Amino acid sequence: MSADDVIGLGYLVAAALFILGLKGLGKPRTAMRGNQLGASGMLLAVLVTLLDKEIVSYWQLALGVAIGAAIGVTLAVRVQMTSMPQLVALFNGFGGLASVLVAAASFFEAVGRGQDDLQINVAAALAAFIGAVTFTGSLIAFAKLQEVWNGLVVPGARAINAALMVASVVLGVLMVANPDQRTWFWLLVAVAGVLGITATSPIGGADMPVVIALLNSLSGLAASAAGFVLDNALLIIAGALVGASGLILTAIMTKAMNRTLLSVLFSEAPSASGSGADADEVYAGKVTSTSADEVAMLLDTADRVVIVPGYGLAVAQAQHAVRDLTLSLESRGTEVVFGIHPVAGRMPGHMNVLLAEAEIDYEALIEMDVVNPTFAQTDVVIVLGANDVVNPVARDEPDSPIAGMPILEVDKANVVVVIKRSLSPGFAGIPNPLFAADNSMMLFGDGKAAVVEIVKALTEV
Ligand code: TAP
Repeated sequence: MSADDVIGLGYLVAAALFILGLKGLGKPRTAMRGNQLGASGMLLAVLVTLLDKEIVSYWQLALGVAIGAAIGVTLAVRVQMTSMPQLVALFNGFGGLASVLVAAASFFEAVGRGQDDLQINVAAALAAFIGAVTFTGSLIAFAKLQEVWNGLVVPGARAINAALMVASVVLGVLMVANPDQRTWFWLLVAVAGVLGITATSPIGGADMPVVIALLNSLSGLAASAAGFVLDNALLIIAGALVGASGLILTAIMTKAMNRTLLSVLFSEAPSASGSGADADEVYAGKVTSTSADEVAMLLDTADRVVIVPGYGLAVAQAQHAVRDLTLSLESRGTEVVFGIHPVAGRMPGHMNVLLAEAEIDYEALIEMDVVNPTFAQTDVVIVLGANDVVNPVARDEPDSPIAGMPILEVDKANVVVVIKRSLSPGFAGIPNPLFAADNSMMLFGDGKAAVVEIVKALTEV
């Protein structure tokens, strides 16, 4: 068996492991195994690639691996769960940048050898375009999620984006037609980079989940295009898998938000800055505060309780306290379930991951469409650090920035207890009339501390 055969076989096994890994990740029970399979596939892919005779310097590679591993381990240990979405956005961005650089090196080398292969040239143009859009777009997504910068406000963004798209196509054609002139490649990268910024900047409010999923998909497509430039089957397959799964996730997210991809991508201004009533108008004199003791008394007589977690659960790291509350209520014969909104938190499955960490039974996590019709028969809903996903303006006010986004209709329950630190808005930046509703009470405080106090008060009821 030649070295090429070993490499080909190794890549085939690695690709099969990626596919099995993805399949495993589709269900919570098999997710850990899926992750292990995917990681083993990646290890095999790296080892097999080391056999490649085109590797120039093992020392340079070892140095790159050492630096990358040091950064990776530090990030994995240090980064808080709440910052994971930003980290994923950065990873997507660097994946895009890596594709641009790999495509550039390989394309220039091929041209230097006097090779003028249409497939390589077109793939390099695609890798340059998609990779650069992904890089700068992901940096903007990172800045928005980290709340350090909200992107550029560009008047007439739609027309500018259309012009940048046309310019990219023209530059791509020029690059493919004149592969020996490197300027076209770098001009294409520059224009695509600007497009990434102008296209991502206006997207805000509650639409970020769609963008993050799309950028994830684009990072895969860029890698796949780079795979064609390198003529590397595994990179083509792995990139296509990321691209396809990212697209499926994008479709799930757009459906969950009741949006179309086009409406998200071609909005003119950040949706977070949209209209809506101001906070004083919504809350003045209408908010009822409560205490842990009062909530414990309510819970003591409840037959059915629904807990609705949101981003604040992640910030407060309240998942273990919530499990204690659940056990305490169940020991009294109360039915407790969790209402899970598809975009609660800051990344897909955020709430599921946190609740699974506290070993809360997966069967108790009920999806939005299933739990919504049951709120009318629910005695107490505890909204724990959730805001946008329970905001009735999405349903009731067509002009609101989150209009049309499906919500958990907790306002239909008998009593709603909202646990959060203040009346400040959620990710979409708009007031929430639920907090001022007649059947709502606010338990102000940190999510974890509040739940711990309720559990304590329950033992004394
Ligand atoms: P948000 O609307 O962001 O509201 C979270 C609430 O948690 C805040 O109002 C905050 O109020 C409260 N909070 C923060 N720290 C807390 C603590 N320590 N204890 C108690 N409460 C705390 O959250 P949501 O309802 O989960 O909605 C998610 C939003 O993020 C949606 O708009 C969604 O579109 C967007 N988004 C989602 C994703 C994905 S993929 N899930 C990605 C990007 C963006 P206080 O400051 O008053 O405590």
